[in-house]
Amino acid sequence: MVSYEVRCIECGASHDPSKPAYACSSCGNLLEAQIDEAEAAGDLAENGYSERALSVWKYREAIPVDDPSLAISLGEGGTPLIRCKRLEEELDARNLWIKFEGTNPTGSFKDRGMTVGVTKALELDMSVVTCASTGNTSASLAAYAAAADLDCVVLIPEGKVALGKLAQAMMHGADVLSVKGNFDQALDMVMTAANEMGMYVLNSVNPFRIEGQKTAAYEVCDQLNGVSPERLYIPVGNGGNSAAYWKGFKEYDSMDFASGCPLIRGIQAEGAAPVASMFSENSSELVPVDEPETVATAIRIGNPANWKKTVGAIRESGGSASTVTDDEILEAQRFMARLEGIFPEPAGAAALAGFMKDLEEDLVDRSAVVVCVSTGHGLKDPDTAISQSVKPRTIEPTMEALSRILGGAD
Ligand code: F0G
Repeated sequence: MVSYEVRCIECGASHDPSKPAYACSSCGNLLEAQIDEAEAAGDLAENGYSERALSVWKYREAIPVDDPSLAISLGEGGTPLIRCKRLEEELDARNLWIKFEGTNPTGSFKDRGMTVGVTKALELDMSVVTCASTGNTSASLAAYAAAADLDCVVLIPEGKVALGKLAQAMMHGADVLSVKGNFDQALDMVMTAANEMGMYVLNSVNPFRIEGQKTAAYEVCDQLNGVSPERLYIPVGNGGNSAAYWKGFKEYDSMDFASGCPLIRGIQAEGAAPVASMFSENSSELVPVDEPETVATAIRIGNPANWKKTVGAIRESGGSASTVTDDEILEAQRFMARLEGIFPEPAGAAALAGFMKDLEEDLVDRSAVVVCVSTGHGLKDPDTAISQSVKPRTIEPTMEALSRILGGAD
């Protein structure tokens, strides 16, 4: 097991890792797990990790759990990094890649965090796990809780979770509570209830979830043969994933397994963009958006719990955050589906939408090595896909009808 510390990102106070904790007991700020990088690097190299297949647990010596052989795993990570030749041609870009996280076991990047977080729940002897969710976190947690034989309670905003995600949480046997409110309110409820009711919280304020998600950055560097991309475009909702990537890039660089770190461009939907507003207004405090709204329901979040982590990460990378409209998100979704054969849910197209906007506004070098993170699979949200596609045409079961409709001779 790698040596590590759980500490506050603000005051640095150290916390007992054998007790569930999500906020600093001295100053209330977010916590992070910090591994001993030199030790992890030595163990990874000694155990020949580079020969292992790509997956979250390829990097097990850098993941702070007691015994990786006891991990609850569904085969997460090892997602494709796809070179987008047709998009490059369409957009006049030279080096565009999409990291397609929709191929994870439950169809989103959340599985990287859950394999570690649910393994940690077992280590801590918790019997109930919980989260608030715009859909994917609940789908993933429900699956991993089922595999771990843990009870699972999820709170979701009523009427605002895409159909596929709801089906997943229900099918995996979670207790699904539909809150007459938004994600931010549901998360407040979870954070208040968890300690009192003895539940382990697996939202991205859980520092161990981030430790699983950071492996996506390690993977990207491995897939680019040991070099980090120049730019990473990534959607920002609650702010956990963007912070996790940055942590991963920095660790992989300092462990000497990759060179460099990318500039991070955080992308938010225009109707749910409190982090992007901090950048446009050059402010150091988050002003929550009371009634966030966007077609990308996964990132329909007005008060991101991890805003300090993600803003710190984006700034340290030399990057910034900005917005895209719902129409721009849907256009990028169609581009990915029709030019590359990649089917993302709307939030999973936001990063590409951000890159396309930067190209239009001449804010990016067209030959830069760019990775856009596509966070979730399009099958999760069939309604949005169908509503912007051409409806199937109904025909009689005859050759005559077929050739008529396809324009052949009849
Ligand atoms: N993309 C997708 C598909 C997501 O499901 C989420 C978050 C994000 C991007 C944003 O990631 O919150 O780490 O900044 N979904 C959460 C959920 C909130 O409940 O499923 P973030």
